[in-house]
Amino acid sequence: MSFVFRAVRGTKDILPDEAEYLRHIEVKAREISSLYGYREVITPVIENRDLFVRSLGKDTEVIGKQMFIIERGDDIIALRPEATAGVIRAYLENNLNSRNLLAKFYYFGPMFRAERPQKGRLRQFHHLGVEAVGSSSPLLDVEIISLAEVILKNIGISGFKIKINTLGCVEDKKAFAEKLRVILGGKISDFCQDCRERFDRNVFRLLDCKNSSCKNIILGLNIKRTDYLCGECLEHFDTVLAGLKNIGVNYEESAHLVRGLDYYTRTVFEITHSELGAQDAVGAGGRYDNLVEELGGEPTAAIGFAFGVERLLLVSSAKCQVPSKDLVFLIALGKGAEAASVKLLYSLRQNGIKADTLYEEKSLKGAMRRANDLGAKYVLILGENELKKNVVVFKDMASGEQREIKTEEVIAELMALAILKAKPLPYRLKGQI
Ligand code: HAM
Repeated sequence: MSFVFRAVRGTKDILPDEAEYLRHIEVKAREISSLYGYREVITPVIENRDLFVRSLGKDTEVIGKQMFIIERGDDIIALRPEATAGVIRAYLENNLNSRNLLAKFYYFGPMFRAERPQKGRLRQFHHLGVEAVGSSSPLLDVEIISLAEVILKNIGISGFKIKINTLGCVEDKKAFAEKLRVILGGKISDFCQDCRERFDRNVFRLLDCKNSSCKNIILGLNIKRTDYLCGECLEHFDTVLAGLKNIGVNYEESAHLVRGLDYYTRTVFEITHSELGAQDAVGAGGRYDNLVEELGGEPTAAIGFAFGVERLLLVSSAKCQVPSKDLVFLIALGKGAEAASVKLLYSLRQNGIKADTLYEEKSLKGAMRRANDLGAKYVLILGENELKKNVVVFKDMASGEQREIKTEEVIAELMALAILKAKPLPYRLKGQI
């Protein structure tokens, strides 16, 4: 090959094997979210940039460094870096708040952040997320966190850790930020360059810096956020933890967990997995009780989370769980058999039997090798002899059993093999076997 185009830096092709896992995860997550009363919302991939500036905070890294911006005339449009802001915009714009009910949404789709690419960190990735808007009850926090856990378990992922903390209300956050500036101010020259830059913009980020010397300084200071929380926020957090214990959700309290987006208040959580490297969060979320008001609505409490789907794909235990239909591989040898095989192939598929063939292979040996490579459960062989006798040779690849079946009985025989669990397609072709 002389020259081939490459995918844009930080983007990734999701090839068929992985795409299968991805869709499996998506289907499971949809099923479970709907059991919990969440309904799908699909918002645009592009939004006005100011929506994100207002929601995520102008001093956050996402806004400062990672936005993909498109300018067209007077419009400044951003590729969404996350979906919470868009969901709340849609909630307000479409008056979904009008009946004052708890509104529950889930979504799946691509997000864009111009980050430095590394393992698990892409410039285009997918979120699978949920948002519950309209209640400040700590029991809703319990529902949301348990939903995240149930989704992970049902897609077969184990070995994750749920880390949880509370940031307090807006007033608590302000007071804590001031305290932190006083505590950390004198030591700021001992912190890494990133932390020094963050000190003025978002002092909380110093608490969860990954740099080991910054970590050590923070640990040594023994700062307890709970010392700076108001009574109501403390009670809220205690009720969340008690609720999680009550239903057996394992969590770890993490006093230094902060989030990179400004809209969070009270409960925040992150789910990490040991199989991932530096980017070890498979998902994260929390309360954002002030965002609806910040975007022009009435004061309305809300909470949600999002999984990073590509990171779920990196966790190997997820991959063992994809159920797949058994494959019937059809081998036609000779011109007449090839022509007749078209009808048989169509009939198999119309009856919901997963079937494939190899149009170019001329030798039985080569075709059998291909059937093996594809993991076919059964092989049907149709040669000129079989064509004359109006039969096909049926071979069970696991047992090696081989026998002739009358052509008009092939479908019924295969359907009878319960293992195929075939479900006919609703649309049928004329003239099938
Ligand atoms: P976030 O922590 O920024 O939260 O993103 C959620 C998850 O998306 C992360 O835990 C991670 O798994 C994945 N993720 C983030 N950035 C990347 C990237 N560059 N490449 C691959 N995966 C990535 C939010 O976005 C919030 N909107 C979540 C939320 C919903 N909070 C309340 N409701």
